[in-house]
Amino acid sequence: MKTAVISDIHIDINKDYEVIEAISEYVRDNGAELLLIAGDISNCVTDTLSAVRRLEKESGAKVLYVPGNHDMWDEKSAYAHNDEIYRLYLEDEHCLSGKAFETEKSWIVGDLGWYDYSFGNRNLHTFEEFEKMKIGTRTVQDSLFNVWSRDNTGRCAWFVDRLKEQLDKNPGKDIVLVTHMLSHEFFLVPESREQWSYLNAFMGSESLKQLCLEYNVKYAICGHIHYRKDTAQANTTWLCRCLNYQQEWLGEKDVRKQVAEAMEILDL
Ligand SMILES: [Fe+2]
Repeated sequence: MKTAVISDIHIDINKDYEVIEAISEYVRDNGAELLLIAGDISNCVTDTLSAVRRLEKESGAKVLYVPGNHDMWDEKSAYAHNDEIYRLYLEDEHCLSGKAFETEKSWIVGDLGWYDYSFGNRNLHTFEEFEKMKIGTRTVQDSLFNVWSRDNTGRCAWFVDRLKEQLDKNPGKDIVLVTHMLSHEFFLVPESREQWSYLNAFMGSESLKQLCLEYNVKYAICGHIHYRKDTAQANTTWLCRCLNYQQEWLGEKDVRKQVAEAMEILDL
């Protein structure tokens, strides 16, 4: 199945650009039948759900996604707790949370994933420091907008278990694992950049990487870090294909060019 892959499209932060139109055009022009989005569609669950429907209508392709941490933020404060938001994603037929999708060749499994500080530098920072989710004047925004428990390590293990449940149901096909959080340390920001020995802790988890290796995942798709890079290890290829915030775009601020640079086409 010809599949277009992208992440972190942030339609609200990029509201001055025709993000949905540009992605839809790219999908149509490339004849993709499936569009996979690795999270961070918007800062609000209702906007994310409606954007996915618009993308499906305008692109003509089936759209599947996982929620990102921003999709869990609910900026409009309509929901009392993140469990309610997550339940809406579980109920959405387009969302991979809790339900794998099967193509002729592939078993596509996905969810938000979380962090357990394993990608932070634990020689320089203590567990208690990571738990504060704050360094200097910088606050990890999830600590303000994600109103589910602050038990990040427990939350991460919970996601790993949920992903394993779906991975174990693989009928013998190539596995594609989609998480918003990083499943490989390759994508982390160099520690030479100020505070990143700390901030990398909130980017993903070593346990997600171990899942990829243990289950011989063919493609591990992630987002969150806002750098477009790919890497490979053992039999797995990792793809991080973020559209990013418009203020982060390198080169021309042309949304169609940025979408084309971010996208990857895979045969799944
Ligand atoms: Fe993002």
